[in-house]
Amino acid sequence: MIRLDKMLAECGLGSRREVKQLIRKKRVTVNGMQITRDDLKIDEHQDHVAVDDQPVFYHAFRYLILNKPSGVISATEDPRHTTVIDLVHEPIRGLYPVGRLDRDTEGLLLLTNDGPLGHALLSPKKHVSKTYAVTLSRPLTKEDQRKIETGIRLENGEQCRPAVIQIFDELHIQLTITEGKYHQIKRMIAVCGSEVMHLKRLTMGPLTLDSALLPGEYRECTEKEKEALMALRDH
Ligand code: URA
Repeated sequence: MIRLDKMLAECGLGSRREVKQLIRKKRVTVNGMQITRDDLKIDEHQDHVAVDDQPVFYHAFRYLILNKPSGVISATEDPRHTTVIDLVHEPIRGLYPVGRLDRDTEGLLLLTNDGPLGHALLSPKKHVSKTYAVTLSRPLTKEDQRKIETGIRLENGEQCRPAVIQIFDELHIQLTITEGKYHQIKRMIAVCGSEVMHLKRLTMGPLTLDSALLPGEYRECTEKEKEALMALRDH
């Protein structure tokens, strides 16, 4: 059993707020009866739900936060290498990683079978922020930091958006970027004449990697995290 508004939101009909509006506007029926209560509990596998007379079939999307270990590739399948999907111990149809982390990069990777969510998180228009912990081979100068903060130009001429930089010590920094160019962090640091020795993603949009998750481990997103993802997807 599941709340009607939750079922509709999980099926991609909009955010919780938007599907409540659908229900209030009498556009939703359950077993042919018009429903106006969004907290109605339905049997998602038995009851016939329709919006504007179009049937809605329940298929709960899955949202997993993986702490990607180094050495594993961000792909759905690969004949020679372990992929992030190989680390999930249950078959979930259509599961894919939202974006890519390099093989030697660790940290937060969202795995889902919600296609529109992946598009939203990766859309260049949404400027979803991602924070990385970076270990450098050589310290950045003040001028390098200024360039990163105002938008650094990569070696091939590509212009980056301004990034936020937090300095912990000479060789340990955090960078927050709002785009996802190929090898972006490594290339930003290379322009500064330094090299990335270790890279770990800590956040992506509303998601944060929790320290309880060891490399290779994953967990289902909480209800709160899912709501934040839905809001991003549907706006
Ligand atoms: N930037 C990189 O250079 N590599 C990653 O894996 C992610 C961001």
